Amino acid sequence: MIAATWIGTSWKMNKLLAEAKAFASRLRECPPPPGVRRFVIPAFPAIHTVAVALGPDSDVMVGAQNAHWEDAGAWTGEVSVPQVKDAGATLVEIGHSERRTHFNETDATVNLKVRAVVRQGLIPLICVGEPEEVFRRREASEYIVSQAQAALRQVPDGSDVLIAYEPVWAIGEAGRAAEPEDLEQPFAALTDALDGRVRAILYGGSVTTDNAAEILAVPGVDGLFVGRAAWDVEGYLALVELAARRGGRELAGASSTRTAPRLASEGLDRPSVPQSTGESSCLA
Ligand code: PGA
Repeated sequence: MIAATWIGTSWKMNKLLAEAKAFASRLRECPPPPGVRRFVIPAFPAIHTVAVALGPDSDVMVGAQNAHWEDAGAWTGEVSVPQVKDAGATLVEIGHSERRTHFNETDATVNLKVRAVVRQGLIPLICVGEPEEVFRRREASEYIVSQAQAALRQVPDGSDVLIAYEPVWAIGEAGRAAEPEDLEQPFAALTDALDGRVRAILYGGSVTTDNAAEILAVPGVDGLFVGRAAWDVEGYLALVELAARRGGRELAGASSTRTAPRLASEGLDRPSVPQSTGESSCLA
């Protein structure tokens, strides 16, 4: 069986409703690409607009960038998992390094949030990544495995979970993408520690169309989680196209076949991964 390659983008604190809708409408025009699982993560106010613009039968999953661990209550300024679910999200990003750095998220709060997401039958996308000094000390693997294990504490086996490995030094304007050789050990370590507990492990941090193919070729990389290079819809579609061309990666021996967990969220209304149809995806 050919596993899907995941290509997702978080828009962070970008896009007004009209821009979000235009992006989603363009995706809607494009046929689901062979073997690629697409997702987009708008800011809270655009989740519903994007979900509606994609339509009920879309293969594109919609996510939220954060959610509180309580289902409701006196938490001014926060948004709960039931609320993002109600708005159309099926995925919730938790623990991005910008949240850990600027909003004091810790392994403990990340874990509470992950458990809340799973409790509501949504998929957590757990972000892990080491600061530069840890990378320089060659301790990235231990650091990120510890973050991932902390995030998954008391999460029932069989829960549908995604991990994004995003080195802090690789993210954003000041970042530089990891070299493929920097990724081999961390992905091997995450795979060893988590296999059977997570559906896919993605890489994020300064991904572009120039480096995407070589990153996807690293064993254990199941997809890409992209910021800047995918905020323009044609940039996103170019990455999707590139991933679609990677179809058959297991057959080519380029990546490990991950043992997917049995889905706790079996009832979740998600289309199956599109398989190769020979159709091309939708580049301008
Ligand atoms: P970037 O962001 O692709 O713009 O570096 C990645 C991320 O923060 O997930």
